[in-house]
Amino acid sequence: MSRIVYVNGEFVAEENAKVSVFDRGFLFADAVYEVSTVLQGNLVDNNAHLRRLSRSLSELEMAPPCSDQEITDAQHKLLELNGLEEGLIYLQVSRGVADRDFGYPAGMQSSLVMFTQTKNILNNPIADTGIKVITVEDIRWKRRDIKTVGLLAPNMAKHEAKQKGAHDAWLVEDGFITEGTSNNAYIVTNGKQIITRQLGHEILSGITRTAVLKFAETAGYTVQERAFTVQEALEAQEAFITSASLFVMPVVNIDGTDIGDGKPGTVAKNLRKIYIEQAMDRRDL
Ligand code: PDD
Repeated sequence: MSRIVYVNGEFVAEENAKVSVFDRGFLFADAVYEVSTVLQGNLVDNNAHLRRLSRSLSELEMAPPCSDQEITDAQHKLLELNGLEEGLIYLQVSRGVADRDFGYPAGMQSSLVMFTQTKNILNNPIADTGIKVITVEDIRWKRRDIKTVGLLAPNMAKHEAKQKGAHDAWLVEDGFITEGTSNNAYIVTNGKQIITRQLGHEILSGITRTAVLKFAETAGYTVQERAFTVQEALEAQEAFITSASLFVMPVVNIDGTDIGDGKPGTVAKNLRKIYIEQAMDRRDL
């Protein structure tokens, strides 16, 4: 069945939606995006996603396409038109349309595109078994804190993972894990210590990461925000990832080596449970 998608103020059937070939998102990946989760027809932590969108736009000196309230209203209308109860809503802002030139004119009108995806978020069967990852060199650009659509490097890493029978890849720079292809990466040591890369230009500041670290501290875990090596990950008791679409997902094998006993760990399972409870309870985490 065809979806209704949103393009610059219009709600249209996906087969009728049109974006110019001169859109700078298409020509130069001159665009940023957000993915918010939908549970029981409600957006999860969407205000935090909109705040990060604003930051991405300002880092690139790109004009907001409209107000946050207008975006939120359009998101809700899109959910309603598509009858989406559980899944994702993707939104992308590009700098807009101009004849192809590396330098862009001043005063461009940004464009906004949104669509929904149905997805099994709560009862994702992979959460019961956990995922396998491989490590791949992180060849992305140096401003990974900006959520741009320039995603070829992580696409290639994920493709390599799939070819090797894994679900995903953890990206490695100078011997240290930065993050997953589209998620933040964590290890657990000494029973209750959670380690994840500190924020900076090297990784995306995950909205799920912020919420999960807060919940982890409340639940009595200690959190260390620092870079960790591949070797530390291989020797960890547990590993997991977080993202809007996966929440907390256990990692049970890295580069063919089982982590712990090769089954989802108790910390990851507990954090997943807490995150789901909180997300069902409140719209902002
Ligand atoms: N990806 N790191 C990277 C590189 C990401 O692309 C993402 C999100 C995250 C996690 O961020 P959040 O918790 O805000 O989802 C970390 C989205 C889900 C995607 O590209 O589909």
